[in-house]
Amino acid sequence: MLDFTTMSYRITLIPGDGIGPEITKAATRIVEATGVECEWVPHEAGIRSYEKTGNPLPPDLLDSIRENKIAFKGPLTTLVGEGFPSANVALRKELDLYTNLRPVRSIAGVPSRYEDINLIIVRENTEDLYSGIEHMVMPGVSQGMKVITSYASNRISRFAFDYAVRRGRKKVTAVHKANIMKLTDGLFLDSAREISRDYPDIEFDDKIVDNLAMQLVLNPNQFDVLLLSNLYGDIVSDLCAGLVGGLGMVPAANIGEDYAVFEAVHGSAPDIAGKGIANPTALTFSAVLMLRHLGENEAADRIVNAVFEVLRESKIRTPDLGGTATTTEYTDAVVAALASGSS
Ligand code: NAI
Repeated sequence: MLDFTTMSYRITLIPGDGIGPEITKAATRIVEATGVECEWVPHEAGIRSYEKTGNPLPPDLLDSIRENKIAFKGPLTTLVGEGFPSANVALRKELDLYTNLRPVRSIAGVPSRYEDINLIIVRENTEDLYSGIEHMVMPGVSQGMKVITSYASNRISRFAFDYAVRRGRKKVTAVHKANIMKLTDGLFLDSAREISRDYPDIEFDDKIVDNLAMQLVLNPNQFDVLLLSNLYGDIVSDLCAGLVGGLGMVPAANIGEDYAVFEAVHGSAPDIAGKGIANPTALTFSAVLMLRHLGENEAADRIVNAVFEVLRESKIRTPDLGGTATTTEYTDAVVAALASGSS
C-alpha cells in the first residue's frame, strides 16, 4: 500500500533586517508553491533582537537551529565602525558553519558582462581577519588579528576538493596573498596544496588575490572552483556577483558538520528597504540549495526552471536587473511559472 504521509520540514526562519522580510516572504512563498511542506519557525536576530534583549544572537534562536538543524535567513545589518559585533559572523562561528558555498552562474535574459559564467566559491567561514580580535593599542593605533589554522584550512580545502569530485568539476584554485602574509596565507596555501595531493584527478593551482580580481574581470572562465579564506572570499563573492547581474542573483549556503544556514550573498540593502523592489532571486536560489540539502531535488529543479523561464521569457524583473517589477510581481510570475510547469 502506498504511504501518502507527507514529510514536513521544521526550518528556523530569520526574516532579517532591511529588505530581509520582503525577500524571505517571497522566497518562502516560492518554496511553498512547490508543495514541499515547511513549518517555518521564526526568530529575530541582529539589531531587532539586540534592541529588545541586548543580545544580537539570542540563545532561543541558536537552540531552534540546533533542534531543527537547518535555518533560512534574511540578511542582518551590522553597523559600520560601531555597535555590537556582526551577528552573521557570530552565527557561523557559534554553529561551526565552516563552509560558505556560493555558486555563481549566468542566467539567460539577465544583462551582464558575460553569458557563460559557472563558478563555485568555497569560502572559509570561521577565522582569518574575522576572528573578531582587535583592539586599540593606544589612541591613533589599532590592531587586528588574522588567525589561520591548519585545522580550518585543511577542512575547507577538503570540502572544496570533495565538492569538485561530487559535482564533476575540473579545477580548484586556492586564493591567497602568501607573498606578503607568508605565515598566515602561507599556511592556508600549504594546506590546500597538501590536500590537493589526495585528489590527483582534480587540477590544482593558486592565484594571488589581487591578480585573481583582475583575471576574474578579464577572463572568468579560466576558473572553476575558487577556494578562499574568509575575507578574500567575502570580497571576491561580490565581484563575482557583479559578473552575473549583481548581488540580487547569488545564493549562499553556510554548512557545518551538524547544521546548515541558507542565506543570500548580499546584505540588508538599506537603500531600497521597504520600497518593495528588492530582487528575491538570490534568496530563492538559497532556498534551492536548502531543498537540495534536504534531498528535495525535484522541487529544487522546478524552482530553478521557473526562475529561468521568468527571466528568459518575460519582461518581469526587478529594477536591479533593469526592470520595473516589484518584488511581489516578480514572485507572482515565478509562482505562476511553477504552477504551469507542474500541470
Ligand atoms: P548590500 O549587499 O546590502 O547592498 C549593496 C548594493 O546592492 C545596494 O545598492 C543594494 O541595494 C544592492 N542589493 C543588494 N541586494 C539586493 C537585492 N536582493 N535586490 C536588489 N538590490 C540589491 O551591501 P551593503 O549596503 O554594504 O550592506 C548593508 C548591510 O548589510 C550592512 O549592515 C552589512 O553589514 C550587511 N550585510 C549582511 C550580510 C548578511 O546578512 N549575510 C552580508 C553582507 C552585508
